[in-house]
Amino acid sequence: KTRILTGITTSGTPHLGNYVGAVRPAVAASKAPDVESFYFLADLHALIKVQDPARVQRSTLEIAATWLACGLDPGQVWFYRQSDVPEITELTWMLTCVAGKGILNRAHAYKAAVDRNRADGEDDDAGINAGLFMYPVLMSADILLFNADKVPVGRDQVQHIEMARDFGQRFNHLYGEPAGKQYFRLPEAAIEENVATLPGLDGRKMSKSYDNTIPLFAPRATLRKLIASIVTDSRAPGEPKDADDSNVFQLYQAFASADETAAMRREFEQGIGWGDAKQRLFERIDSEVAPLRERYETLMAEPQKIERLLRDGAQRLREAHAQPLLRELRAAVGLRDLS
Ligand code: TYM
Repeated sequence: KTRILTGITTSGTPHLGNYVGAVRPAVAASKAPDVESFYFLADLHALIKVQDPARVQRSTLEIAATWLACGLDPGQVWFYRQSDVPEITELTWMLTCVAGKGILNRAHAYKAAVDRNRADGEDDDAGINAGLFMYPVLMSADILLFNADKVPVGRDQVQHIEMARDFGQRFNHLYGEPAGKQYFRLPEAAIEENVATLPGLDGRKMSKSYDNTIPLFAPRATLRKLIASIVTDSRAPGEPKDADDSNVFQLYQAFASADETAAMRREFEQGIGWGDAKQRLFERIDSEVAPLRERYETLMAEPQKIERLLRDGAQRLREAHAQPLLRELRAAVGLRDLS
């Protein structure tokens, strides 16, 4: 069976970028025959940026309810919270000791933080915690522990998956070759081509860190208002517009069929007004999201149900996958067998 795995960091409210980049393709992929799926809430990753415990907990609940509202079937899919599986943290250390520090120096998120410090005339590493530096190793452990073949993500995560391949390969080479074994499968990113990076309200990548997101389950009126605030150029109705250069068009494309997208492209050429284009975008998104929003609200009203599902999922997953592999890995590197 092909194994599919992906996670979302529990650092805020899920937005349209998370939905089209990860949740929607992952839920669809989980329904195919001959796949085994692993979908989780990356709460350990959240600690890198969020030092507000209430926010981490709230976000964990919101993201869990999002997965379920979008059609994840917990009877068919492994569904869990990262911190409920301590084997992930243990594997993180083993991988830390094979990971090249130079590779981590080149990770986008870390480099961007260093670049900001340089621009501000600060020391390179001022205010940067070691968690940010180690982020790709923790993510590699998430992926390698369950021997994922495919990882559905937005384009921003591709570098991290390449790093997971690198660390997995080094481990296989160091410890597997002498034993004639391959401990880890090497994962591949799976990217939805028409939504590789969804733009936010200001045209930059939609991201919690830029404060430019459209929450997936914003109430209808808020969704309409946010869409109306998307930045456009100042071309008047009747003037032809460049679809490829438009956030409104890119968002539309992520929610529309190929035919609808082609029709919208023609309307852009014919000079559709921004107000009309945004209204069409709102209707397209709302018609897809409205039924999910209703389920989401029902789920959020019963947090204890979600909590039970997550704990149960993690417990079964540890027994079926995490503990047996960790036992092998401990032996491989020369640590004592705990069982
Ligand atoms: P996170 O929480 O930033 O984002 C979750 C998923 O949403 C995708 N995404 C987007 N896709 C398209 N357009 C956007 N504007 C956009 N913004 C976010 C992300 O690419 C991601 O797929 N490190 C990961 C979480 C993680 C993980 C993993 C993912 C931890 N361990 C193991 C896969 C496998 C992260 O912070 O994603």
